[in-house]
Amino acid sequence: HTPLTIAIDGPSGSGKSSVSRAVARELGLAYLDTGAMYRALAWHCLEQGLDLDDGEAVTQAARDLPLDVPTDPDGQSVTVGGTDVTGAIREQRVTEQVSAVATNLDVRAELRRRQREVIGAQREERGGIVAEGRDITTVVAPDAEHRVLLTASEEARLARRSTELHGGADADQVAATRDQIVRRDEQDSTVSAFMEAADGVVTLDTSDLTFDEVVAAVLALVRGEV
Ligand code: C5P
Repeated sequence: HTPLTIAIDGPSGSGKSSVSRAVARELGLAYLDTGAMYRALAWHCLEQGLDLDDGEAVTQAARDLPLDVPTDPDGQSVTVGGTDVTGAIREQRVTEQVSAVATNLDVRAELRRRQREVIGAQREERGGIVAEGRDITTVVAPDAEHRVLLTASEEARLARRSTELHGGADADQVAATRDQIVRRDEQDSTVSAFMEAADGVVTLDTSDLTFDEVVAAVLALVRGEV
């Protein structure tokens, strides 16, 4: 088999992490959550008390970061210098600050370098990888064998995230989620265009699909059934 890279991008609440993981599992490929890398860096900077607006300090932290991300879709832990940060990087304080480090272009260059290294290694070791994020189809792996942008209406994305974060999607829960999500996507889209598909990237609108249907649609694409 020739090695396979499947690149998947999308905004928050598009379902890209769980979908990518399931696709990797189904195909026996490695899996890379690039958002976890940005989150781990943000966590580390907060932990060190770094000023996130100090671009040089944050860039240096990115270069020195002793980060280990799992590449198994049934993935164990994200660790920084041996500390398990799997849960901590999902905390609200990290989610609120992560865009500040992710909009630093020198940080992006460093994490992109690491991401490409993982992708190259996993193509050799496991025959391929599903890598997901905001700029995988366009910048990190534009030469991937398959490139997919998962989109969903704002309403659908908010309902999904609200259920994840607050356990439901009533009016108050959705309103609380909206502030967080919309602002982060706005900030993130200043450095990568993940709301519209680039040339050659397949758009999959998941608004009216179940999780299983989205996974099946991506698998069909990869298997050349559509
Ligand atoms: O996917 P997730 O929501 O965990 O990503 C967290 C943050 O990491 C995003 O809000 C964005 O700032 C950053 N990110 C990025 N490029 C990627 C993946 C994530 O800038 N490829």
